[in-house]
Amino acid sequence: MQLLSLVALLLLLPGCFSDLTGPGVVHAAPGTSAHVQCRYDQKYEANAKYWCRITSKGDCLFLVRTSGLEYPVKVDRVSIRDNHTLYQFTVTMDRLTASDAGTYRCGVHVNGGPDLLTPITVKVSTGGPNAPDHDLSSNWDSSSIRYLIYVSFLILIGLKTPLLLLLVFGIRWMYIRTQQSSDE
Ligand SMILES: *[C@@H]1O[C@H](CO)[C@@H](O)[C@H](O)[C@H]1NC(C)=O
Repeated sequence: MQLLSLVALLLLLPGCFSDLTGPGVVHAAPGTSAHVQCRYDQKYEANAKYWCRITSKGDCLFLVRTSGLEYPVKVDRVSIRDNHTLYQFTVTMDRLTASDAGTYRCGVHVNGGPDLLTPITVKVSTGGPNAPDHDLSSNWDSSSIRYLIYVSFLILIGLKTPLLLLLVFGIRWMYIRTQQSSDE
């Protein structure tokens, strides 16, 4: 029984037990720096870590890559630094511009196997996470969705109630009519 609930818990929380985890989404204002921290399982301590950007073709273009050591590596405005004590590496992108917004990956190179990858969306906008940006889907927060459901519910009720009443009266009228015609 306890084993079953443990298994259920493991299934519910896959992110907590996977070999590489990241923040998913990172927000930063233009001109500032974005910091991305990705955690990996202890056994990948000595593996090379990297940061790449998904291109329009769907490839992941390398931006920075460690050799597996803790030395920081910096290319242009992007740097990466591994920490073997915390089992995490930090990517920093400096002097952000709107064109830096996009989809990236934290990666851990695995010899002879598929690399570990976790997707990170970088959003560049002023005013923090709630500021409007060019991604329409992110503007559909839960409160506006609730409002939409509420409005469509009202429209549904408003439309259906008269229709239902009309149907009931129609059937009743036809019923009376057939009664009257059979009486004649
Ligand atoms: C790793 O993180 C720990 C705790 O913050 C820190 O003491 C240590 O200096 C870091 N190592 C490197 C190489 O940055």
